[in-house]
Amino acid sequence: MCIVDKFKLSQIELRQIAADCCRQIECGANGQPSCFKMLQSYLPLPTGKEVGRYIALDFGGTNMRALLVELNGGAHISIIKSVAHKIPVQLMKSNANAQQLFEVIAMMVAKVATEQGGYPLAHTFSFPVSQINANQGVLVEWTKEFATAGVVGQCVNTLLEQALLLLGMDNIRPVVLLSDTVATLLAAAYTDSNTLIGSICGTGHNTAFYDRNHNMIINLESGNFNFMPSNEYDLQLDAASSNPGRQRLEKMVAGRYLGELFRLALARADFSEPFALDTQLLSDIISGQDIRFSVAERELAVSIVQRAASLVGASYAGVLLYLNVDKEQLCSIAVDGSLYEKMPLYAQGIQSTLDILCGERAKYIRVFAENRGSSVGAAVAAALVEIAAQGKERPC
Ligand code: BGC
Repeated sequence: MCIVDKFKLSQIELRQIAADCCRQIECGANGQPSCFKMLQSYLPLPTGKEVGRYIALDFGGTNMRALLVELNGGAHISIIKSVAHKIPVQLMKSNANAQQLFEVIAMMVAKVATEQGGYPLAHTFSFPVSQINANQGVLVEWTKEFATAGVVGQCVNTLLEQALLLLGMDNIRPVVLLSDTVATLLAAAYTDSNTLIGSICGTGHNTAFYDRNHNMIINLESGNFNFMPSNEYDLQLDAASSNPGRQRLEKMVAGRYLGELFRLALARADFSEPFALDTQLLSDIISGQDIRFSVAERELAVSIVQRAASLVGASYAGVLLYLNVDKEQLCSIAVDGSLYEKMPLYAQGIQSTLDILCGERAKYIRVFAENRGSSVGAAVAAALVEIAAQGKERPC
């Protein structure tokens, strides 16, 4: 079999992946063993009328940002201040610790907090967190090759609060901790009430959905799905990763890994160093901006990206199967992340897989880019928590 064929998936395989994904959600929902963590967000859908000024902090896979956001209902949103930095690579390593990491985060928050301060803070933290309420939760495990010591098993917002206090910011109050998938869903749902699914296709991969039975958004941690065929390069990548056997879907579809998968399949002596090729390179090769690679090598890059998009599309089809929405009900899927926005063939591949797997139903499904999760989505989450805490009637 040629290398490119090892990255091809048949329609039958994609259908099976969607069915397995649905079955795994059912197992998780019924308290049976599942590859999905099914983490509760303690957040419902917004009405679109939530208002207020909030600090939104975003700690993702590659970047971190802090913003001061004002919600005025519907499309009336202002970003008053914003700062962004790359997460320093040395802070992701096991010889860095929680205090060092959260100090850097708190220093960034200080830049958007005004002298009067006092704004509730919403923390979008893009890693698996097991929550006991909307504001408190412990990091279950690191993903995306992070390994900072002293964070797993700890309450994430307590670490943040301690760091804020050490910098004298006792007027900044974390009120909500949420996944980036949940934030993406909330941002889209703030203006489009048909949004039932939020997903990230960036450095990492994950999906959340609205569970109408419990009136709560559930974070699947779908990057850990593992019911799909894998080839020898997937196995090599997994074995050399920081979390072998875990996050198997993520390792086939996410930006942290696609460049490495390409490098392993390419097997060229001049690229012998792990992670020597990044995912941006795949984008440049496919779009013809990097012409150092042969036609066959370009074809390999294309097949890796197409497989990634098909797998993501099949997983969305699985979530839709589980949601079992009425046949002609509109359903929006909001997606954020650099791969979805920028990687050639990626968004298109997700859509064509959904078209194939959902048949007639596909015309009622809208997949679209939503990149305001960590700003608007986070602020909406804070507003929802504030409304619940004040025992106020939700605006209707
Ligand atoms: C994390 C998820 C996150 C996703 C996208 C994954 O590695 O486990 O919590 O939502 O990346 O950022």
